[in-house]
Amino acid sequence: MRILVTGGAGFIGSSLANSLSERGHEVTVIDNLFLGRKENIAKGVSFFPLSVTDRPKLHELFMKGGFDYVFHLAAISSAPMYVDGKAPDPADWTDVNVTGFTNILNASLASGVKKVIYASTSSVYSGNPLPYTEDQKIEPKTMYEVTLYVRELIADVFRRTHGMKLAGLRYFAVYGFNETHKGSYANLVSQFLWAMKKGQEPFIYGDGTQTRDFLFINDALEANILAMTTPMEGVFNVGTGTSYTLNELVALINETLGTDIQPLYKQNPLKNYVEHTLAGISKIKKFGFTPKVSLEQGIRLLLSEA
Ligand SMILES: NC(=O)c1ccc[n+]([C@@H]2O[C@H](COP(=O)([O-])OP(=O)(O)OC[C@H]3O[C@@H](n4cnc5c(N)ncnc54)[C@H](O)[C@@H]3O)[C@@H](O)[C@H]2O)c1
Repeated sequence: MRILVTGGAGFIGSSLANSLSERGHEVTVIDNLFLGRKENIAKGVSFFPLSVTDRPKLHELFMKGGFDYVFHLAAISSAPMYVDGKAPDPADWTDVNVTGFTNILNASLASGVKKVIYASTSSVYSGNPLPYTEDQKIEPKTMYEVTLYVRELIADVFRRTHGMKLAGLRYFAVYGFNETHKGSYANLVSQFLWAMKKGQEPFIYGDGTQTRDFLFINDALEANILAMTTPMEGVFNVGTGTSYTLNELVALINETLGTDIQPLYKQNPLKNYVEHTLAGISKIKKFGFTPKVSLEQGIRLLLSEA
């Protein structure tokens, strides 16, 4: 298959592009390197430094590329970027996350792409009761949540109006390889591991009893493959259905490293902070999704990489 991965120099995108290439597909990546790095992309994957906002160049690429499937991972990918100076202009969020997405759907439609699989986020659920399920009412609060939720609404317009096939993946907290470029935006599993391997205390906002549904990258990749190879359409939670407190996470890393490092607890400065997440995964399970890697195994796998 000929496959395009947008945001393919980023964490999930590069892991996916490399894995699809290893499986024998002809893979092309576009990324403007806003956060991702070219070094994340394996040899054998074609790379074009291109923004999803560049409509004429995208059109040209799609018409030449003849892509069968498109995975859309390009985004301003973390809510704090709006308040910490990385992406303070709200127009950048709508340009990249909404218009960029619409550009990809338009080009996919015009060039006969069979299906577009795009990233959404579990953050759209903030404030909802657990476990989060796809039928819950969504009331997005941040630029990140709003722009990723709007994608789902636009995807539905393309489905209704043009009969396009689309699957949106509401990722929970994904961690894994190729995440170093994300720095302080990386998953807490990775950030804690990086600190604790150096003998440093990890920072925790609050008392560490907040919970997260952590998903290992290989399981996130499996969800993408299923979205390509099965009739999955609509939006799907991509998580494990199990959550851990941050204190439990630190304890697991200590156990694996053979250390006894205590976290540094800090007062939480973040507004709209989500205390707990947990994925209801019965919808995606119907298409064969079973998360395989436990948090303990994931930590071991990450450590074996170093
Ligand atoms: N990692 C997670 O736990 C998680 C959780 C929920 C949702 N998501 C979503 O999954 C997607 C991928 O996330 P990630 O963790 O790989 O983040 P990432 O930041 O590593 O990847 C996003 C990539 O998009 C690129 N990009 C940004 N603006 C672009 C533009 N205008 N044109 C082309 N490329 C552009 C960046 O350079 C980066 O390489 C994002 O939409 C994110 O919101 C991720």
